[in-house]
Amino acid sequence: MTKVEAIVREELYEEIKDALSGIDIHGITVSQVMGCGEQRGYTNVVRGSKVAVNMLPKIKFEIVVSSDEWADRVVRTISRTAYTGSPGDGKIFVYDLKDAVRIRTGERGRQAIV
Ligand SMILES: Nc1ncnc2c1ncn2[C@@H]1O[C@H](COP(=O)(O)OP(=O)(O)OP(=O)(O)O)[C@@H](O)[C@H]1O
Ligand SMILES: [Mg+2]
Repeated sequence: MTKVEAIVREELYEEIKDALSGIDIHGITVSQVMGCGEQRGYTNVVRGSKVAVNMLPKIKFEIVVSSDEWADRVVRTISRTAYTGSPGDGKIFVYDLKDAVRIRTGERGRQAIV
């Protein structure tokens, strides 16, 4: 089992959600988060003076899938949909997942997510 975590531009939330649905991914967690990358945010000019805006609002997707093949599909779909080519397009992190539990049935591992 693999967990894919993607931090993306908030304005692309709908497109990414629809693209994941289009490849039959239905179990998704989404959060509104704040973050910064290599640029450490940006500077904004407020009433003539520069202020650092370090944290920008982003959307975080968390998706757990049963195999590496599915994880690759998810990574490719998000990469394609989240891409603009400008700084701040986001990051995708991939983790090995130890276990999962479907609380209603007690199923564990892959059974809990397929
Ligand atoms: N090393 C990291 N650890 C945790 N979160 C990160 C990391 N890098 C980026 N993020 C998260 O991803 C968001 C988007 O990052 P961003 O796309 O700006 O990355 P970047 O490395 O600066 O690449 P780019 O040069 O394309 O902007 C950040 O706001 C932050 O939430
Ligand atoms: Mg950046």
